[in-house]
Amino acid sequence: METVRAEVAPAGGARDLSTLPGPRRLPFLGNILEIRPTQFHLTLEEWSRKYGDLYAFWMGRTPVVVVSNLELVQRVLRERPKEFRRWSPLQEIVEEIGFDGVFSAEGDQWTRQRRLVMSAFTAAQLRESHGTVATITRRLRERWRAAAARGEPVDARRDLARYTVDVTSAVAFGMDINLIERGADPLSRQLETIFAAVNRRIFAPFPYWRHVKLPADRALDQALSAVRQRMLDLLRTARAELDRDPARAAAPRSLLEAMLVARDAEDPKARLSDQEVLGNVLTVLLAGEDTTADTMAWMLHFMALRPDVQARMRAEADAELGDADLPGTPEHAQRLRYIGAVSHETLRLRSAAPLLFIEACADTVLGPLRLGAGARMILLTRQVGLKDESFHDASSFLPERWLTPRPSSAGKHDPRAALAFGSGPRVCPGRALSLIESAMVGAMVARDLDVSLVDPAQPVKELLGFTMKPEGLMVRFTARRR
Ligand code: HEM
Repeated sequence: METVRAEVAPAGGARDLSTLPGPRRLPFLGNILEIRPTQFHLTLEEWSRKYGDLYAFWMGRTPVVVVSNLELVQRVLRERPKEFRRWSPLQEIVEEIGFDGVFSAEGDQWTRQRRLVMSAFTAAQLRESHGTVATITRRLRERWRAAAARGEPVDARRDLARYTVDVTSAVAFGMDINLIERGADPLSRQLETIFAAVNRRIFAPFPYWRHVKLPADRALDQALSAVRQRMLDLLRTARAELDRDPARAAAPRSLLEAMLVARDAEDPKARLSDQEVLGNVLTVLLAGEDTTADTMAWMLHFMALRPDVQARMRAEADAELGDADLPGTPEHAQRLRYIGAVSHETLRLRSAAPLLFIEACADTVLGPLRLGAGARMILLTRQVGLKDESFHDASSFLPERWLTPRPSSAGKHDPRAALAFGSGPRVCPGRALSLIESAMVGAMVARDLDVSLVDPAQPVKELLGFTMKPEGLMVRFTARRR
């Protein structure tokens, strides 16, 4: 197996990507026949174990460089948006659907939008909305307690997706949508239709929908128009609040208000278009939903497999919370160190975003490799953290590795290789929020419920969609005996 030297080689000595190792390809088709979209990450990770941490495969006639070398991955992530960007076809697909926000924006547009989006997730903002997050967590607890009382199996991922939409809407938009109690609200179905379509289109061999609309594309159009209408109502309500109380413009209370203020800005450089406001509302909802829901579903999976982990989470929750049912502030949630460690270990082993799709903005050199402008890359961010050179006994689920102080006998531990949230200037702005959500749900379950698998013999598989989810995960909750 070939491993690359991490440092950037002088341009003169750099190799062309045609010299990289990789799977044998067919003329015209490249390796496309070996790729199943839902297993794409697993195939790329397997190839990386075979061909090394810098190899190439072909999507039709387009070469794609696959990188899982920590130093090279870090360099690419650090040098955005100037030297590297997200795949341009990804941007086209996402923008065509109307999600043209901070995730797909590049250059100056990205800088402007990023600043605004970050303002929704400051420590002060998270403190301000913590009470609402606790209320939403209690609703989830009641739902799961009721299922426990009825002895019903629970599709935990579906409930968690409603939970994350409720939390994101509350924190970023100041709105209590309450999908958990309202259940089969059309919004969650419409969002599901949209997310599924984004995923399908990303992996489609060519953009057929620009020529012919299949039933799924028509369903997408309907879902989009309904969600847009709902978001416009939301914007109108926020607009009316700002008009009623103009002092709020100086200190906006939600991302929505901040975006509306920026939309009206005198300075043309700061001004956001209507499309940008709407695009970012959808982007933040999309980016905050499945990622966090899938991560918490995987956390429940690990808890169900490991009663010892459940017991330790429970002991910590009992000790730290005292008479309280849930952590009362974000700082309180952070004091649940073992539960936090369980989240970090879940993210390392079951990252909801195991791949990042990157493109070179101009001719450049990456390690030993010369890349032309537009060269496509996939960064195997999960694979980086699965190597024993980054983490001791890397394939094992060992939450203790994240506790401090770490015993000197604990072995290799390089937190730079934990890349579930990305890294560099585009690192996930929702990181702190999602860790709070995991801590709240982890503490709630540990305190009140036992979790087990409905059918331990049924394998739970990794399924890559827009995010990486546990397929076939059904759990049973039992009320805890105190
Ligand atoms: C466990 C949960 C989550 C995971 C694993 C996750 C992962 C990621 C990753 C890998 C990226 C790309 C980073 C990069 O390019 O370096 C990203 C970007 C982003 N995430 Fe998250 N995310 C999570 C939760 C959230 C939440 C809760 C929100 C908001 C409510 C959010 C909003 C965003 C946005 C807006 C971006 C685009 C940032 C940019 O391009 O500048 N994410 N996330």
